[in-house]
Amino acid sequence: CRRCPLCEKRKHFVFGSGNPKADIMFIGEAPGSDEDLQGLPFVGRAGRLLTKMIESIKQNREDVYITNVLKCRPPGNRDPQPAEIEKCEPILLRQIELIRPKIICALGRISGQTLLRTNATLGALRGKAHEYHGVKLIVTYHPAALLRNPQWKRPTWEDLKFLRREYDGVEL
Ligand code: URA
Repeated sequence: CRRCPLCEKRKHFVFGSGNPKADIMFIGEAPGSDEDLQGLPFVGRAGRLLTKMIESIKQNREDVYITNVLKCRPPGNRDPQPAEIEKCEPILLRQIELIRPKIICALGRISGQTLLRTNATLGALRGKAHEYHGVKLIVTYHPAALLRNPQWKRPTWEDLKFLRREYDGVEL
């Protein structure tokens, strides 16, 4: 893909990984340096925490699908820019069309705000079932934020239980 200038500096285009028939899809913000080097999403420290978050709702990483709003690393991990999102989002929409997940979990404020086209705070976005192109979507903390702020792990667990309930209608 050469639709935006992020292609100039990237090592890898990071498409996504996991089960192409997944019921649950996790969408982060953009690849970081580990992801750019390996060509796979969420493979660094935040990724290892994401794996634990997935396992906490009785799924395996291989069962779900993991991707990002942007497929290429922004320099210095800066926030995605509107023009980059505009060029990249059609790829995400096509992934959702093909995988047809039952529920999407947006990881972090940027992912939630971007997908839902809102400036609402993470606090306002959490704990609600939203919709993104006909698919139920919930928002929780980004695992990288949890590494910096472990006190957010408890509310994240509440979000993950909410995700699980919305997914199968059964309380954990
Ligand atoms: N952070 C993200 O948002 N995505 C990744 O793939 C890795 C870290």
